[in-house]
Amino acid sequence: MLGNHLPDKLVPTLPMLWALALLGLVTPVYGAEQGERAQEEYVGDTQCKSCHAKIYLTYRKTGHPYKLQKIAGGPPSYPNGTSFGVPSPPADMSWDDISYVIGGFAWKAMFMDKQGYVLTGKKNRQYILANPRLGTEAGWSSYRDEEAPRVPYTCGACHTTGWVATGADGLHQDGLPGIYGTWAAPGVTCEACHGPGGGHIKNPTLVRLTVEERCGDCHRRGDVTRIDALDGLITHQDQYEDLLVSPHRYLRCTACHDPHRSVKYKKRGFKGIKKTCLVCHAKQKVMVPTMAQMDCITCHMPRVVKSAVSVTHKFSGNEVPEGDMRGHIFGIATDPKWKMFTGDKKHVRRDVDRRAYLTVNYACMTCHGDKDRAWALESATAIHEK
Ligand code: HEC
Ligand code: HEC
Ligand code: HEC
Ligand code: HEC
Ligand code: HEC
Ligand code: HEC
Ligand code: HEC
Ligand code: HEC
Repeated sequence: MLGNHLPDKLVPTLPMLWALALLGLVTPVYGAEQGERAQEEYVGDTQCKSCHAKIYLTYRKTGHPYKLQKIAGGPPSYPNGTSFGVPSPPADMSWDDISYVIGGFAWKAMFMDKQGYVLTGKKNRQYILANPRLGTEAGWSSYRDEEAPRVPYTCGACHTTGWVATGADGLHQDGLPGIYGTWAAPGVTCEACHGPGGGHIKNPTLVRLTVEERCGDCHRRGDVTRIDALDGLITHQDQYEDLLVSPHRYLRCTACHDPHRSVKYKKRGFKGIKKTCLVCHAKQKVMVPTMAQMDCITCHMPRVVKSAVSVTHKFSGNEVPEGDMRGHIFGIATDPKWKMFTGDKKHVRRDVDRRAYLTVNYACMTCHGDKDRAWALESATAIHEK
C-alpha cells in the first residue's frame, strides 16, 4: 500500500516513492478494501492456532494483541516475561469503572470508562510503566489535560482488528456511546495484518490470505513527510516516517523484523530481528578497540524517540535528552553544522535528498559525558576507518 510494500523486483525512483507515500496520505488506512472485506468473516486468532501453532505462540508474546483489553473487574493481563502490567486503575476509580485498558504492554497505558470514553485530565490519567534501563519508576501522569474529563475512542484503526469508524451517531462497539466505531476483535490480531480468515480456515490452500506488509499503515503519525518532535525527542509512532528518511528507505520493515516476534521483550539478542545489521553490512567493523564489541544499534539506533519517559544527560558544555524508544534514522552526521531538528524544533530536519541524520549529541554524548561535541565529531569519522 505504501512505499515499503513495493514488489521486490521494482526498484523505485525517489520521486516515485514519494508519489506513493503521498498517495498513502489520501488513502484512508483500510479505505479501498473496507467494502470488499466487510463481506468476509473475521474468525479470531484462536482459530489460527491449530494450523499455525508456532507463529501463534510467538505472536501472543508481542505487543500487538494486547493493544486493547477488555476489563472484567480486575487488571489486564500480559504474558509471562513481558510487562509488569497495570496493577491498579486511576486512584479515584475501581476496576468496575473501567471498560477497556489501552496498551500497558510496553511503555504506558490509558483507560476507558464504562461509557467507552478515554479518560483525560491532569492527574492519574495515564499509567507510565517502570523503565529499569532509564532508572525511572512506574507512576501516573496527565493525558490531554486540555480535553478533560474524557474524549471519544477514535483510535481503533491502529489498535483493533476490523475497525469501522462510525462517528458519534453511528453504531458503537459493545453499545458504548464513547466508542466511535466497531471492531471484529480488540487488539492487533492476525487478521488485522492478514485480513479476515473465514474463507481461509475452511479451505487454506484455495483461499489464500494476504502477506502484504501493512506496518506503515499504523507505525506512522499522519503526514509521512514530516517527523514530529517535542522537547528534543521524536514523538513515538514514527517508525515508517523514520525509515523513509533513512538509508534503508527501500527496505521493508520485515527486511529486518519478524512480524510475529517482539523486539521489546527478547531473550538472547535480537529475537524479533531476523536479519541483524551484519547480515547486510558484513564488512563493517568498529575500529575503536574499546568499543569493538558494541552493538551497531548503540550508535545507529539510539533512543531518540519518546513514548512515555525520558531522561537528560549532561556533557561538557551542554545536555541531551534520551527517550524510551530506538529511532530508525540510522545515519550519523559528521558535518558539524548539521542540526537534527528544524528551527522551530517541531520536526526532524531533512536535507535536499530527503535524508535525515542523527547528530553526535544523540549518538555519542549519552555515554561520553566527560567529552565535548568537537571531540565526538572528530572521533566519529575514525569509528569505521581502516
Ligand atoms: C486448517 C488449517 C489452517 C488454519 C485454521 C489456518 N491456516 Fe493459514 N495456512 C494453512 C495452510 C495449509 C497454508 C499454506 C497454504 C499454501 O501454501 O497453499 C496456510 C497459509 C497461510 C498464510 C500464508 C499465505 C501465503 O499466500 O503465503 C497466512 C498469512 C495464513 N495462513 C494465515 C492464517 C490466519 C491469519 C489464520 C487464522 C484466521 C489461519 N491462517 C488459519 C492452514 C491453515
Ligand atoms: C503485525 C502484522 C502481523 C500479525 C499480527 C500477524 N502477521 Fe503473519 N505475517 C505478517 C507479514 C508482514 C508476513 C510476511 C512476512 C515476510 O514477508 O517476511 C507474515 C507472514 C505470515 C505467514 C507466512 C509466512 C510464514 O512466516 O510462515 C503465515 C502463515 C502467517 N503470517 C500467519 C499468521 C498468524 C497465524 C498470525 C496470528 C497468530 C499472524 N500471522 C499475525 C504480518 C503479521
Ligand atoms: C496511526 C495509528 C495509531 C493511532 C490512530 C493511534 N495509535 Fe497508539 N500507537 C500506535 C503505534 C504504532 C504504537 C506503538 C509504536 C510506537 O509507540 O512508536 C502505539 C502505542 C500506543 C500506546 C503505548 C502502548 C504500550 O503498550 O505501551 C498507547 C497507550 C497508545 N498508543 C494510545 C493511543 C490512543 C489513546 C490513541 C487514540 C487517541 C492512539 N494511540 C491512536 C499507533 C496508533
Ligand atoms: C493495525 C495497526 C498495526 C499494524 C498493521 C502493525 N502494527 Fe506494530 N504496533 C501497533 C501498535 C498499536 C503497537 C503497540 C502495541 C503495544 O505495545 O501495546 C505496535 C507495536 C509494535 C512493536 C513493539 C512491540 C513489540 O512487541 O515488539 C513492534 C516491533 C511492531 N509493532 C512492529 C510491527 C511490524 C514489523 C509490522 C508489520 C509487519 C507492524 N508492527 C504492523 C500497531 C500496528
Ligand atoms: C536487508 C539488508 C540490510 C540490513 C539488515 C541492514 N542494512 Fe543498513 N543498509 C542497507 C542498504 C541496502 C543500504 C544503502 C546502501 C547505499 O545507500 O549505498 C544501507 C545503508 C546503511 C547506512 C548508511 C550509509 C550511508 O550512506 O549513510 C547505515 C549507517 C546502515 N545501513 C546501518 C545499518 C544498521 C545499524 C543496521 C542494523 C540495525 C543495518 N544497517 C541493517 C541494507 C541493510
Ligand atoms: C561507536 C559508534 C558506532 C558503532 C558501534 C557503529 N557505528 Fe557505524 N558509524 C558510526 C558513525 C559516527 C558513522 C559516520 C562516520 C562517517 O561517515 O565517517 C558511521 C557510519 C556507518 C556507515 C556508513 C558509512 C560507511 O562507513 O560505509 C555504515 C554502513 C555503518 N556505520 C554501519 C555500522 C554497522 C553495521 C555497525 C555494527 C557492526 C556499526 N556501524 C557500528 C558510528 C558507529
Ligand atoms: C534495517 C533494519 C530495520 C528496519 C528496516 C526496521 N527496523 Fe524496527 N528495529 C530494528 C532494530 C535493530 C530494532 C531494535 C531492537 C532492539 O532494541 O534490540 C528495532 C526496533 C523497533 C521497534 C521498537 C523500538 C523500541 O526501542 O522500543 C519498533 C516499534 C520497530 N522497530 C518498528 C519498525 C517498523 C514499523 C518498521 C518499518 C516501518 C521497522 N521497524 C523497520 C531494525 C529495523
Ligand atoms: C552506549 C555508550 C556509548 C556510546 C553511545 C558511544 N560510546 Fe564511545 N565508548 C564507550 C565506552 C564504554 C568506551 C570505553 C571506555 C572509554 O574509553 O571511555 C568508549 C570508548 C570510545 C573511544 C575510545 C576512548 C578514547 O578516549 O579515545 C572513542 C574515540 C569513542 N568511544 C567515541 C565514540 C563516538 C564518536 C561515539 C558516537 C558516534 C560513541 N563513542 C558512542 C561508550 C559509548
